[in-house]
Amino acid sequence: MDSRAIGVFDSGLGGLTAVSALRELLPGEDVVYFGDTGRVPYGTRSAETIFRYAAQDVRFLLGHELKCIVVACGTVSSVALPRLLEMTDIPILGVIEPAVRAAVRATKNGRIGVVGTSATIRSGTYREGLLAANPGLEIISKPCPLLVPLVEDGRFSEGCTVTELLVEEYVSPLLKQNIDTLILGCTHYPLLTGIFSKLCGPDVALINPGYEAVSALRELLSENDALRGGGPACGEHYYVSDSEQQFLQYAEMFLRGPVHGQVQRIDIENY
Ligand code: DGL
Repeated sequence: MDSRAIGVFDSGLGGLTAVSALRELLPGEDVVYFGDTGRVPYGTRSAETIFRYAAQDVRFLLGHELKCIVVACGTVSSVALPRLLEMTDIPILGVIEPAVRAAVRATKNGRIGVVGTSATIRSGTYREGLLAANPGLEIISKPCPLLVPLVEDGRFSEGCTVTELLVEEYVSPLLKQNIDTLILGCTHYPLLTGIFSKLCGPDVALINPGYEAVSALRELLSENDALRGGGPACGEHYYVSDSEQQFLQYAEMFLRGPVHGQVQRIDIENY
């Protein structure tokens, strides 16, 4: 048993979709979350800047007693994970491999769509991972740079015309190519599941990478006998690099439940 907390970080609010999965799949675990709300988005930046930001995020989290870190950001997972792994001995899990495994399991016709930030799609990490798992797959990728600002602005519900139009513009070309599985390759996108489902219909499986990463983490912790034991839990602690109030405004939507625990602003440039 290991009662240390699980660290989670993202460029902003999107990683809370992974915290929501932690509540469902690993209830009782303590969580330390960092959302770099002052510097979001990462997905429009260069690989070097994304790594520099992500390294600061990891250094901040390593100041806590953690047993592992979940990189709940598709962009950081695609661009910077190998270099982050060198920073510590505790396991750091990205979202790519678990999402790739889930997509390969889900597809029947071997045609998989991937949507994500510009940096994620440009990195080619999903394509490489999918083709390594099965070289016969057909991968159709599409950067969707305008979706993160809309989600961070709270425009993610069905009926939000501007978001629906954009999703349609981005995803229709993939549907025309007959995909039967779509990786929502950015942790902000599960908030748009209603809009994606309406457009894609029931025959396209939607993969939520944050959920898949937490599911992989549960396996890892249970194999290593590192699940949290008894004793009082500390719960969840949230850190952000911009206004706590702004974080609280939408956090519940991402978590699909109330924010348990304190929210505190930090200066990430000090790490
Ligand atoms: N949550 C980030 C991701 O999964 C996207 C937001 C950003 O561009 O920073 O890629």
